[in-house]
Amino acid sequence: MSTTPGPRIVLVGPPGSGKSTVALALGERWQLAVRDTDSDVEATAGKAIAEIFVADGEPVFRALERDAVRVALEEHDGVLALGGGAVLDETTQELLTAYGAEGGTVVFLDVTLAHAAPRVGFNQARPLLLGNPRAQWQALMEARRPVYERLATVRVLTDGHRPADVAELIEQEL
Ligand code: S3P
Repeated sequence: MSTTPGPRIVLVGPPGSGKSTVALALGERWQLAVRDTDSDVEATAGKAIAEIFVADGEPVFRALERDAVRVALEEHDGVLALGGGAVLDETTQELLTAYGAEGGTVVFLDVTLAHAAPRVGFNQARPLLLGNPRAQWQALMEARRPVYERLATVRVLTDGHRPADVAELIEQEL
C-alpha cells in the first residue's frame, strides 16, 4: 500500500468499470474514507455533470475535474476514484505519474465492453456516451487504454467480479 502522503489508493478506468462501487468496497474493507472526483466536481459546480456538459461545455467540466483531482491528491487520505476521462488531462497525468513514482498505488480497473455495457447503459450522467453508448464506449476505451496502462501501477480485470471481490483482488496485488 502507498507510503506517500495523499490517497492510499487511486482508481482509474473507463465508465462502467465499477470505480465508485469498488472504491466503496475498499473503503469498507480498509475502514478508509472514500472520495470521488465526479462528486467533487458536482459539489463545486452546484449541478450534475450532465448539466455542466450541456450548460457550460466539456472544457469547463475538464477544468473543474483537473482542480478536483489536484485537490483530492493533495488532501484526501483514503480511497480516491477518478472520473473515467480525468487521465486525459496533462497536468493530471503528471500528478499521477509523480504519485506512482513516489510509491502511490494507481489501480486500472480494466473491463470488457460486455461487462461495462450493462452498467453504463443509457445513463444521462455520462454525456459522452449518449447516442450509441456501446460504440462510444469502445472508442473511448481504445483511445484511453494506453493512458490507463501507463499511469497505473496495478491492473485488475474486473469482468464478472462483484465489487467486494475486486477489492480483494486489489489487496492481493499490493
Ligand atoms: C467521463 C466519465 C464520467 C464523468 C463524465 C466524463 C469520461 O465518470 O466524469 O461523464 O470522460 O469518461 P465515470 O467514469 O465515473 O462514469
